[in-house]
Amino acid sequence: MTFDPTLIRAQYPALTGNRVWLDGAAGTQLPVSVIEAIAGAYRHGIGNVGGAFAASRYSDEIVESARTAIADLVGGDPNGVFFAPSSTSATYRMSRTLAGTWAPGDEVVVSQLDHDSNVRPWVQAAESAGAIIKWAKIDPITGELPVDQFQALLTERTKLVAVTAASNILGTKPDVASIAKIAHNLGALVYVDGVHSTPHLPIDMHALGADFYITSAYKWSGPHIGALCASPTLLETLHPKKLASSADTSPNRFELGTLPFADLAGVTAAVDHLASLDDSATGSRRERILQSMGAVATQQKSEGKRMLEGLRALAKITTYGRASDKTPTAYFNVEGHTPREVAEYLDRNEINVWNGHNYAWEATAAMGIRDSGSAVRAGIVHYNTPADVDRLVEAIAAL
Ligand SMILES: Cc1ncc(COP(=O)(O)O)c(C=O)c1O
Repeated sequence: MTFDPTLIRAQYPALTGNRVWLDGAAGTQLPVSVIEAIAGAYRHGIGNVGGAFAASRYSDEIVESARTAIADLVGGDPNGVFFAPSSTSATYRMSRTLAGTWAPGDEVVVSQLDHDSNVRPWVQAAESAGAIIKWAKIDPITGELPVDQFQALLTERTKLVAVTAASNILGTKPDVASIAKIAHNLGALVYVDGVHSTPHLPIDMHALGADFYITSAYKWSGPHIGALCASPTLLETLHPKKLASSADTSPNRFELGTLPFADLAGVTAAVDHLASLDDSATGSRRERILQSMGAVATQQKSEGKRMLEGLRALAKITTYGRASDKTPTAYFNVEGHTPREVAEYLDRNEINVWNGHNYAWEATAAMGIRDSGSAVRAGIVHYNTPADVDRLVEAIAAL
């Protein structure tokens, strides 16, 4: 294994200097290769797609390459990939489309663990269709989403289960494959939020049992764009509201208006970057992604442990989500300080972290901290080093 976060970090122009960037769970910086891919597309000259001239054909190629890149990243099919301005907007779009297939009395299962973008669109879509929402609850101490409850929650009326592959605040990883098995046995679809999991783990959406898998490129060193991957056969059966004049082919019909072509060139470059994180990785891009992300997961396990153990050793700290198998994400409070005060103090010490509910609206309420400002989140990504972790722990110890 040759994955060295220090070497990776050197490829990021924004990461020079003394500042520690532990805000990656809210959005990552871009390496030179991605910045150049985006700038390069503009330099080359891009046209809108479907035209009879070279700049248009160039954009056609950019879009197709980006679909293939996402498919390689998540183990899907390029013909099942569509893009949206964000994961939230893609989920809203899909929720409205699926709601058109639901009848009053049908059921939809959402979870307290999820980012609100994989909750509220389904709640509102269910309301519009007269469908019933059922809630999977978290264990507020471990931050886990016990699988047993799904057996009781799902019935033959269940149309969809929306569940995250990893919590964006607690880092806990529900057993999505087992949940999907229960859902599929009853004929329900499974919509997996992979926005937090994708930068931390090798992803195989089929092994997860995901009928839909959503990811946001800006969480893994790409531009601000969301991508949804489903089976092309499933997408063929779905008909979103669209312009009369726009393409009715799938996946194009799920994309509203003109895509950000230069950013899509950046999506492909970001996937290539992930594939190169372990420089000993060989084989197809999919194989290199799996090897690289496996190396990333191993490294992050030890960095995450270092961060949590370092914080937990300080008497004045409360950490949330006590499960052991987590993405390298710490969610914590410091006695006597609001989360915002801690984040501002860390900023003065040149350390970026997030404070607040981070859109984990239901989970922070279930843990009883939403009304008091929730907590501080520090998240490790592939360019963070053990030295970054030590800077955080030392700064908190000195507060
Ligand atoms: C787990 C998770 N799901 C969904 C989202 C929403 O993604 P987007 O900003 O692309 O809408 C986020 C963003 O922070 C997230 O962390």
